[in-house]
Amino acid sequence: MTATHRPLGSTLPPVFPIGLGCMGMSEFYGASDDAESLATLARAVELGVMLFDTADTYGLGANEELLGRFIAEGGAARRARMVIATKFGIVRQAGTYERRIDNSPAYIRAACEASLQRLGVEQIDLYYCHRRDAAVPIEEVVGAMAELVRAGKVKAIGLSEVSADTLRRAHAVHPIAALQSEYSLFTREPETDVLPACRELGTAFVAYSPLGRAMLTGALDTAKLEAGDFRANNPRFQGEAAAANAALVEQLGALAREWGLTPAQLALAWMLARQPHAIPIPGTRRIARLEENLAAARVALTPAQTARIEAVFAPGAAQGGRYPDAGWAGVETRR
Ligand SMILES: NC(=O)c1ccc[n+]([C@@H]2O[C@H](COP(=O)([O-])OP(=O)(O)OC[C@H]3O[C@@H](n4cnc5c(N)ncnc54)[C@H](OP(=O)(O)O)[C@@H]3O)[C@@H](O)[C@H]2O)c1
Repeated sequence: MTATHRPLGSTLPPVFPIGLGCMGMSEFYGASDDAESLATLARAVELGVMLFDTADTYGLGANEELLGRFIAEGGAARRARMVIATKFGIVRQAGTYERRIDNSPAYIRAACEASLQRLGVEQIDLYYCHRRDAAVPIEEVVGAMAELVRAGKVKAIGLSEVSADTLRRAHAVHPIAALQSEYSLFTREPETDVLPACRELGTAFVAYSPLGRAMLTGALDTAKLEAGDFRANNPRFQGEAAAANAALVEQLGALAREWGLTPAQLALAWMLARQPHAIPIPGTRRIARLEENLAAARVALTPAQTARIEAVFAPGAAQGGRYPDAGWAGVETRR
């Protein structure tokens, strides 16, 4: 599949413009099947996907272990084709969503060792601070991460859900290869200051939940979420907000039909057209959806098309907060 690769910092290779989010393979979106997830991962590598996104907190280590199994089964040749991104900083107990954020240097060092073990790799390609612990200055956090780079345990560093100001302070200590935040037609806040700061500093912007956690695909029935599905407790997926958001998605569906695309493809193609430095990482556990999503990399929308989409999804159009109260811990970009 040909698509222009996008830069991901100066020490990592440019990557296929769409990555794969692995979180849902182990937690948050209902029951998963490891065999199906592994087959989806294999198809992603086959189709040229390079950036694979996980975190130590997803399934409390289970998601990194799944990825580790996938890497081990494919040997060195598979490993060489993958850019593995993982994260530290969210501390949870089994069976709970509530969290504590820890950015202390001792914790960072221990978390890195544990992730290396679970992934079964000698080096993490991109290591993110998942959430900010306000008790530790960002300079100290990045200093500890830079030591991991010098020790050869990490190739590049990133930050997640930080403000433009934090990014600038961090970048002054050590180059920040990527900033990861929620960004989609439903969540356009990064356009105000985070995306411009990334552009200015040469930091890649990695967009998580680019499909609005499935809502933008038009395939999610919010009335039928499984027990334990994170979205059941997320304000954006509840009651009147869910109905208002579904009405927006219907309009996206109409545009997608007019242009011979699916709503998921249109949501991704919009992002790729609007943000040349963004790398969306849609999550899926299914090969057919993976293939559908990746096809968006070959779609080139015109400015007139993106303008029609944005007329529906103006900033603030989505109803309901994007996290329940407990989920805002360590998120600097709450508005
Ligand atoms: N840094 C952070 O704080 C943070 C937070 C959240 C997520 N993330 C990362 O970002 C990645 C992506 O975000 P996300 O998974 O939350 O949300 P997303 O990519 O917006 O949506 C994923 C959901 O959409 C469904 N889906 C995917 N493609 C589809 C298609 N073509 N048609 C219909 N449904 C489709 C998936 O279901 P199936 O799996 O059943 O296909 C899954 O439920 C995660 O996997 C994770 O790695 C990071």
